Amino acid sequence: MIQLAADERTLRDEIAARLIAARTRTAGLTDCVDDEDLVRQHSRLMSPLVWDLAHVANQEELWLLRAVGGREPMHPEIDPLYDAFEHPRAERPILPLLTPAEARGYADDVRGRVLDLLERVSFTGSPLVDRGFVFGMIAQHEQQHDETMLATHQLRKGGQVLTAPPPAPPPGDVLRLPSEVLVQGGQFTMGTSTEPWALDNEQPAHLVDVPPFYLDTTPVTNAKYIDFIAAGGYDDPRWWTSAGWDHRQRTDLSAPLFWQRDGAGQWIRRRFGVTEQVPPAEPVMHVCWYEADAYARWAGRRLPTEAEWEKAARFDPATGRSRRYPWGDGDPTSDLANLGQRHLQPASAGCYPAGAAPSGARQLIGDVWEWTASDFLPYPGFAAWPYKEYSEVFWGPDYKVLRGGAFSADPVACRGTFRNWDYPIRRQIFAGFRTARDADYA
Ligand SMILES: [Fe+2]
Repeated sequence: MIQLAADERTLRDEIAARLIAARTRTAGLTDCVDDEDLVRQHSRLMSPLVWDLAHVANQEELWLLRAVGGREPMHPEIDPLYDAFEHPRAERPILPLLTPAEARGYADDVRGRVLDLLERVSFTGSPLVDRGFVFGMIAQHEQQHDETMLATHQLRKGGQVLTAPPPAPPPGDVLRLPSEVLVQGGQFTMGTSTEPWALDNEQPAHLVDVPPFYLDTTPVTNAKYIDFIAAGGYDDPRWWTSAGWDHRQRTDLSAPLFWQRDGAGQWIRRRFGVTEQVPPAEPVMHVCWYEADAYARWAGRRLPTEAEWEKAARFDPATGRSRRYPWGDGDPTSDLANLGQRHLQPASAGCYPAGAAPSGARQLIGDVWEWTASDFLPYPGFAAWPYKEYSEVFWGPDYKVLRGGAFSADPVACRGTFRNWDYPIRRQIFAGFRTARDADYA
């Protein structure tokens, strides 16, 4: 997220820039395929791309033009089609959706009116507009759908349609990095009450006491994960929770999603339409929570809790303060983290030394989402805002929390307090993990 400017002119410009950046990305993800591809469901787990396109426009109309601007609905008859809670993803292709041309026209129409409104709106008088919150919420919403659309592209069969330069190679010190770093015990401030565009589930700030622990310096790599496979990790129920083992048996898991062996027995993967060798130094990705948890047990370790992850990412022992990011309070740049789909893959483990946390842990922000041990639960004092379906309906043990964003997440929707959540069986998301252990002072 941006560090918001105090003056209104700059705030209007920053909001416009964030909205336009999201739309540029949406266009890039939808203009690269033909109409037939846009209306097709590439996986039952995902919506047709054309649904996401009209849905982001519909949410923008609902929140910015209607809730803030007081306008009448432009096309009230389409609202139910694009209500994510009325229609699960699997049934969206059979709905009478807008065509690609209609969806693009609707999105352009809404956006034009929003940019007009943005010039005149007052940022005072309602918590919805305070410091531009609801505009920030909509920019984040579109970027989150862009990330979902990127996952649809990864699931899509067919040739390559997306391109991006590879990330930079790892720095020279990577072979000398310790495998784990110590995070000192004690209280720290988790969550936020001050981040202007924070979502309800990140709030409020509260103190949490975290005992000392060791955390992997980097996310677990493909090479290490291949060791787990080679050691029979998928075949040994000792490493799996009972629910995880049931799932592994039922779905015949044996490697990360999109992986297979070539004729010589080497691991290859399909990535955005290209088949390639699995790069050993890259963080492992497309593993579900059960696989991450099993790997950690096999390694004699465990997944970090969400509080441990956030303490490692935000707490600065020198000042005793929780910061916005591992490197401090400044917004992410291309030197600090792999975010924003600048690349179409994570960077090798050990990259982005300038983005390291005070403990020395690297890549906590960007590259891959990181599964944590924790269920998705409200913080003490949580209040649903601005609607219950944002977070509250998801609380409970069905979902596990992921932290830190990925190459696929935009900076506007990624910060030290940002919480993502998903089912423990999900693998199409850009998720990996790192492991932890209790610190032993005996
Ligand atoms: Fe949505």
